[in-house]
Amino acid sequence: MELKVCRATRLEGTITVPGDKSISHRALLLGSLACGETVIENFLRGKDCLATLRCLRQMGVKIEEEEDRVRVEGRGLGNLREPEEVLDAGNSGTTMRLLLGVLAGNPIFAVLTGDASLRRRPMDRVILPLKLMGAEIWGRQEGKLAPLAIRGQRELRPIEYTSPVASAQVKSAILLAGLYAEGETSVTEPALSRDHTERMLSYFGVPVKREGLTVRLRGRALLQGRPVRVPGDFSAAAFFLAAAAISPEGRVVVKEVGLNPTRTGLLEVLEAMGARLAVEVTGEWAGEPVGNVTVESSELRGVEIGGEIIPRLIDEIPVLTVVAACAAGKTVIRGAEELRYKESDRLATMALELGRLGAKVEVLPDGLIIHGGHPLQGSRVQSHGDHRVAMAMAVAGLVAEGETIIEGAEAIDVSFPNFPLLLATLAGEARGK
Ligand code: S3P
Repeated sequence: MELKVCRATRLEGTITVPGDKSISHRALLLGSLACGETVIENFLRGKDCLATLRCLRQMGVKIEEEEDRVRVEGRGLGNLREPEEVLDAGNSGTTMRLLLGVLAGNPIFAVLTGDASLRRRPMDRVILPLKLMGAEIWGRQEGKLAPLAIRGQRELRPIEYTSPVASAQVKSAILLAGLYAEGETSVTEPALSRDHTERMLSYFGVPVKREGLTVRLRGRALLQGRPVRVPGDFSAAAFFLAAAAISPEGRVVVKEVGLNPTRTGLLEVLEAMGARLAVEVTGEWAGEPVGNVTVESSELRGVEIGGEIIPRLIDEIPVLTVVAACAAGKTVIRGAEELRYKESDRLATMALELGRLGAKVEVLPDGLIIHGGHPLQGSRVQSHGDHRVAMAMAVAGLVAEGETIIEGAEAIDVSFPNFPLLLATLAGEARGK
């Protein structure tokens, strides 16, 4: 599918975005392991979360999809049924890595696979600690790549694990496996990654302790099913917030969006670039702060980013690259080598595709240098099968002269199926005025 985006001088409106992808996955998973029912409101019906839903159903979890909610009948810890068929995680790293953590503690055999992109992504980062806990796991290339086969155990060993990467997927897989271990399991990460698993575990009644960059839990605790209202996905909102900042006449308000500080690094960077923005926390949903964000058209300047903020804006770097191309001066992003292991190598794909529009982007081993302020010219670009690259390029298309055509735009369905419509509405509404 191709998405055509024309230059829009105005981008204006008040919107809500679909439910958070990370939180939707976790609500399904924890709901399945809990006692009693978990009703999930504002669940993200994107392909990634639907892959998790299907895999759980294949293991005997009863999940009913209603118009505006999903009902999960928990099976309790350790009661997953052996799936008769291969589990397909599609494009979703979260599905594969978090499911491995859960499967490790269930005494069943399962085979997991995914699409071509997921079969290239490193799985050894979760396999290594899960094997230390006692799970048996096999995979291609000496056990690093999917398809994977796992034989879980009735009892796992607790571990104290120091992760070499700041990855919420690694941390979550170990914590989920830790639920099945007698005693205390801990994970220490090099920088704080998103903490949705910790928050939701606490919300479901499992005490999780944090000391600095270490988080601990005691296994064999009971999870109690609870209603979960999923906040809007900040990473989805980010495309519109960024678009408003770079649009000549932009003003976008996103309501009821998740404002978990482990996710909102982009707001700090936009502010440092000179963006006009306002944030208002209005409440808490299932242990997650929620509120409204407004961003207006702004004179932007380049910045240098790196270090602990990177995991807090990791999924926003593609669109941040677009913002940097529109800012005056140079933006340097360092310490972001993790981007090479996402749905595409996002350092390479963003540099290549933005380059097609005339942006000046240099690729570093662990980041990018963007020389901003060069006018962008519409062109044909590719998504590389990566939803965030597709949406970031659509945002670039709004400020590029003429027309930008994004090939492979169906990738967007992974996380934000109504993105094209919402973008057209905001740009179109404004044009009609
Ligand atoms: C996610 C964690 C991040 C993020 C991904 C979703 C999660 O990946 O990029 O989109 O839901 O835990 P890593 O943990 O691999 O950095």
